[in-house]
Formats: sequence, structure tokens, C-alpha cells
Amino acid sequence: MRAFTVERYGSKDGVRAGDVPEPEVGADDVLVRIQAASVNPLDRMIRDGEMKTILPYKVPFVLGNDLAGVVVEVGAAVTRFAVGDEVFARPDKNRIGTFAELIAVHQDDVAIKPATLTMEEAASLPLVALTSWQALVERAHIQPGQKVLIHAGSGGLGTIAIQLAKQLGAYVATTTSTPNVDLVKRLGADVVVDYKKQAFEAVLRDYDVVLDSLGGETLMKSLDVLKPGGKVISVAGPPDATFGRELGANPVIRLVMSALSLRIRRAARRRNVTYSFLFMKASGDQLRELTPLIETGKIRPVVDTVFPFESAREALEYVEAGRPKAGKVVVRMT
Ligand SMILES: NC(=O)c1ccc[n+]([C@@H]2O[C@H](COP(=O)([O-])OP(=O)(O)OC[C@H]3O[C@@H](n4cnc5c(N)ncnc54)[C@H](OP(=O)(O)O)[C@@H]3O)[C@@H](O)[C@H]2O)c1
Repeated sequence: MRAFTVERYGSKDGVRAGDVPEPEVGADDVLVRIQAASVNPLDRMIRDGEMKTILPYKVPFVLGNDLAGVVVEVGAAVTRFAVGDEVFARPDKNRIGTFAELIAVHQDDVAIKPATLTMEEAASLPLVALTSWQALVERAHIQPGQKVLIHAGSGGLGTIAIQLAKQLGAYVATTTSTPNVDLVKRLGADVVVDYKKQAFEAVLRDYDVVLDSLGGETLMKSLDVLKPGGKVISVAGPPDATFGRELGANPVIRLVMSALSLRIRRAARRRNVTYSFLFMKASGDQLRELTPLIETGKIRPVVDTVFPFESAREALEYVEAGRPKAGKVVVRMT
């Protein structure tokens, strides 16, 4: 089958479209003929070898972390899906490879595609929608009336996180650049800070939760907008020891992770708030929880551009160069 693979870590030239063997289908797997797959910043990080400690894929491997497509075969133990079902998924982190004609995915990680969406729209959602759910529902337990700051509101993650936070009843602030101010307001943001013109930490106060996807100084300054007891959840900051434990990392790696996050954890403690790192997980159940919100239009996908499979490399470079105006970039497989 045709697939877009990483042959060599660390460079734009280490990837190529080529032929690879078709996946084997385990008893609990569904085999999906992929129709669309979206691009995430994670793809570039994997390509460049930046994630090797967490995701030690052996080259060559197929890239891609999101999919929408049609079930063409089911394993002997599969109960939830049948041939012909239209599905969407973020496969488990140890079984990626959605820039391909086919992928075998564990049935627990798959959900029926929202009926109202095209394949391209559905493929844009799983990774960012699951991240939003795991940050705002699972970890932050957002309650109606709570104040939430979502950084980078126009990004793949931000566009969905704003909409989910509004559905949870939160009062939502976001940061974005001038051309995207109207877009994030339409998505539901109550307060928009144009980071080209204003420092968010100078205008926002007493927030319950910050969802950070920028890391660095933005993460550090985010502590200042929280009320005592508040939480900053970062998907781009340093990993912490809890994440190391979840990952099953050895004690040395856990110690390194703990050391990497020492500065931000100490700064958080001084302000009586908490810092935690989140690395999202695959979950068909959570996609099923999100589906009614999607089918009723309460969460709408934002797709910037669709590239054909032959241009997967260009799609990655387009995202890497920060050229999308807002939302997600999708690769059409068929
Ligand atoms: N750990 C996890 O599980 C996990 C999950 C999802 C995402 N992530 C990470 O989260 C990050 C964002 O992901 P994404 O998919 O949303 O990326 P993306 O689609 O590339 O969006 C990035 C956005 O950042 C905005 N931006 C840049 N500088 C900014 C600033 N100073 N203040 C506010 N916004 C700024 C840009 O918006 P403007 O055009 O408005 O400038 C852009 O839309 C990536 O690093 C990704 O790897 C991690």
C-alpha cells in the first residue's frame, strides 16, 4: 500500500511516499481504509526525532496521528464495528501511521464518525478534541462559571478547546494574533487578547485554569493570571514525574522529567497554584462523548487547507512554517 514514511530521523529529506506492506489485523483490531488524515505539530516533532524518549519508533515507520475512513475488515474479537462503518480515530501512540491507505487500530481507540461531518472535517478532530477533553474535563473538571484561559485560540487545539470550554459553561479568554480575533470570538471566546498588541498577563486576573500550548515564557507568565488554587495544564511545557510514571519510564528518565519541570513547579508552588504536563491518549469512548456536541454543531471543526496525499510532505512543511491561517491541515488519502 502507499504510505508516507520516515526513513531517517532529523530532516525534511528523511521522509518519503512509497510502498509498504499492508498492516496485520489483530483480534481486537479494525482495519480502516483511510480517506483523510490530519497534520499535527507532533508529526514534525516525531520526524525530527524530538520525541524519541517518549515515542521510540524504529525507522522506517509510517507517520500520521489522526484519521477518518471506512472499516474494511474486523478482527475476530471486534464487537463494536462492522465492515462499511465510517469511523474516526487517533490511534494509540505506539501504533501510529495514518498517512497511508490502510491502518489497523484497536477497537477501543475508534469511534463512528460524526454523521454531519465530511471525512476531511472528521480527520481534523481526534487528537485535538481528545486533548481538549482530557485537559478540561478529565484533569481540570471545569465547572460552569469558572474562568479558563486557552492560549493560541486559533490553532488546531485552541479552536476546539475554546468551543468545549464554552460547552462546559466556562468563561473563556484566549490569546491570538490580530487576523484571528474575529474567528476566536465566533468560536465563543468571551475575552480575546491580541498578543501582538497586549501582554495577556497584564489584563487577565483570577483565572481557575490555563490550558497552555506554547510553553516557555508564556507558560511562566500564565501562573500570574491564576487565582490561588488554580491550575496550569500544559501540553507544550516540560514533562513532570507523574507523566513519567504514566509512561512507565524507568526511574532515571522520571528523575530527568522531574528535574526539567522543577523551575515551573517551584514557581507554581510559590503562587499557591499547580503545574501539570499533559500528553494526550487515544480513546474511542471520549470520541463518543464528544460526538453529540459535534453533531449538534456545538463543536465545529476548523479546517484551513486540504492537501492531496502526493503532497503530504508539503502539508507538513506548510504547518511547520506556521502558514495555516487557523485550524487544521488535512491530507486527503483517496
Ligand atoms: N502534549 C499533547 O498531548 C499535545 C496535544 C496537542 C497539541 N500539543 C502541542 O500544542 C501546540 C499547539 O498545537 P496546535 O495543533 O494547536 O498547533 P497549531 O495548529 O500549529 O497552532 C499554533 C497556533 O499558535 C498561535 N500562536 C503562535 N504564537 C502565539 C502566541 N505568542 N500567543 C498566542 N498564540 C500564538 C498561532 O496563532 P496566530 O495565528 O493567532 O498567531 C497558531 O495558530 C504544539 O506544540 C503541539 O505539539 C500537544
